[in-house]
Amino acid sequence: MKVGIDDISLYVPGFYFPLTELAKQHGIDADKYLIGIGQEKMAVPSPDEDIVSMAANAAAPLLNSAVVNSISTVILATESGIDQSKSAGMFVHGVLGLASNCRVIEIKQACYGATAGIQMAYAMIHQRPHERVLVIATDVARYQQNSEGECTQGAGAIAMIISSAPRILEIHPHQGRHSVDVMDFWRPNQHKAALVDGKLSIDVYLDSLKQSWKNYRKDGGRPLVALQHLCFHQPFTKMAKKAFSVFETIEPDAAAKIGARSYQLSQIYGREIGNCYTASLYIALLSLLDNSEEDLSNHHVGLFSYGSGSVGEFFSGTIVEGYTKHSRKGAHAAMLKYRSALSYETYQNWFYQDVAADVASYRVPTLTSGQYRFSGSEGFRRLYAPSLHLQKKAG
Ligand code: CAA
Repeated sequence: MKVGIDDISLYVPGFYFPLTELAKQHGIDADKYLIGIGQEKMAVPSPDEDIVSMAANAAAPLLNSAVVNSISTVILATESGIDQSKSAGMFVHGVLGLASNCRVIEIKQACYGATAGIQMAYAMIHQRPHERVLVIATDVARYQQNSEGECTQGAGAIAMIISSAPRILEIHPHQGRHSVDVMDFWRPNQHKAALVDGKLSIDVYLDSLKQSWKNYRKDGGRPLVALQHLCFHQPFTKMAKKAFSVFETIEPDAAAKIGARSYQLSQIYGREIGNCYTASLYIALLSLLDNSEEDLSNHHVGLFSYGSGSVGEFFSGTIVEGYTKHSRKGAHAAMLKYRSALSYETYQNWFYQDVAADVASYRVPTLTSGQYRFSGSEGFRRLYAPSLHLQKKAG
């Protein structure tokens, strides 16, 4: 049985902050961010957006009544959880009006969670092929102000339907996993921004790729020359180049054969958005699919997922014949094109704004262009609603 990604959709906030401006504020050469890090824009969520509203906005286009009625499970992966108990997926279930005959969970393992979600969905669909699983990756990547990580920040969500009749990517059964308990990036409960040992995190990522690749090959995975494309977790797009250099070291002939073109299309969206933790790898996959002028049907893709702390996994898939008919690339391109640039002051206010922990009830104004928004809190209960301007239009 073929199991894989049947449909996939991206949501990014309608605002961004240019990294040339951040470089000015930090008093450094902009090329460090544009070339050295490989980032151009940082997607910035407005105060009425969070991981739930972004997830709902990513998933909404995938849901017709046949899909809704067959979803057995919603798996939401995030690093940026909004509640210590109730899963963010449960809020999304409510916002989107999903069926009650469905289980809902949230997965946490830094940037790796969505891959665990996909592998769980893969097993679930093998068990019950008539059902579908909705996997959502949604995050706000936030570091401390003026830290080295600030230039890699971003926000966004990816939603995917996993089914036994995949129209986008058939997932192969081979898995190469690698876990090590390490403090390269973490976020204690009382912290809104991540803490990171940047240089260590890069070293651990690269070693995790090496070990995961070894385990993938041991598990019967394809040789490198049999993969036409590579998609890596991209905390910043230069990381894809660093990841490819692992193959240049351990598999020099095969790496020379598939070349840098194997990952370059996967960098286009990430450069415009920034890190989205759990969603970053799947944004890279979508970037490849949406930006290729060549029809990629039947091409094989290797995917490397990495979540600090740390878990790595290398797996692969085959792009399904006719996938372009189900592409949402027009909507994705429009979403990225029609964004507004923020001033430094607004970016700072929005990205680092915080409501005091003891404020139980408040409202936030409508700023997002997304279909669903976070509207505030009532007695510590987070509230979500369709966006006011869309309600007005509908009225
Ligand atoms: N023009 C062109 N390039 C320049 C330049 C200039 N004027 N100035 C510097 N550069 C280059 C440097 O040579 C360097 O290139 P290489 O990496 O190829 O050597 C690059 O710009 C970055 O320079 P530095 O190493 O000096 O940058 P830094 O010390 O300020 O920090 C960082 C870089 C460690 C990635 C930091 O941004 C960071 O901590 N980021 C967050 C952590 C992270 O993303 N880790 C990745 C692995 S962990 C992971 O993947 C999980 C996750 O999502 C967090």
